[in-house]
Amino acid sequence: MRRPFISANWKMNKTIEETEAFINSFLPMVKDITDVDILIAPPFTSLSAASGLLKSSNVILASQNIYHEEKGAYTGEISPDMLKSAGCTSVIIGHSERRQYFSETDEVVNRKISTARNNGLEVILCIGESLEEREENRTFEVLDKQLTGSLKSLSLDGITIAYEPIWAIGTGKTATKEQANEAHGYIREWLGINKEDSDPVRILYGGSVKPDNIEELMSQPYVDGALVGGASLKPESFAALVTGSIK
Ligand code: PGA
Repeated sequence: MRRPFISANWKMNKTIEETEAFINSFLPMVKDITDVDILIAPPFTSLSAASGLLKSSNVILASQNIYHEEKGAYTGEISPDMLKSAGCTSVIIGHSERRQYFSETDEVVNRKISTARNNGLEVILCIGESLEEREENRTFEVLDKQLTGSLKSLSLDGITIAYEPIWAIGTGKTATKEQANEAHGYIREWLGINKEDSDPVRILYGGSVKPDNIEELMSQPYVDGALVGGASLKPESFAALVTGSIK
């Protein structure tokens, strides 16, 4: 069985002080949990402080973005080396908010994944359809296009997929467990890993995951964990998600 993986995407929330307060209260709540991978992705400005507090803990530190070049004249961007020196071992790439507000295409996402992997960073690749695309029965077509473009010429080593239907993000409208499992099943098949239950590639669900729906989602065979926004901002709530993910 694949190990549950619960990830917090804080988006543009929390100052350094708020990050420290969260971690100081969260770590004791999860210190004895050994059978879940737990990840936190704070904003760039909090990474270094978070890294100091998370050292020798059971929590992985990730960034929410990366640039696809290694260094140079790219004002305002962050390189893989900078992330590693701030203590990150993982990075979230291709979140729908980056695609929507910052014009990230599958080609850019592909370059970012490639740069991250070449520099030893693990990746959570986000994909998912809009409400319109779902209503037009185009979900699989969209996932196919995003997977094809984002993973072009790349191996699956070090990559986790997050299926995040855009209509479920921050809306309080969660995909049903059947909808999530169906999409995850499609993705597993696409990746060629459907039959290999022991295959290490994991697929997380994201979109209004909360302590009261995590168990239901995790009951599905193809749901390996969650990428959580809103409900990851409070230590109690994020700890409840971690506990609730144990199958
Ligand atoms: P949400 O966000 O949990 O607030 O819906 C999920 C995400 O965007 O990763």
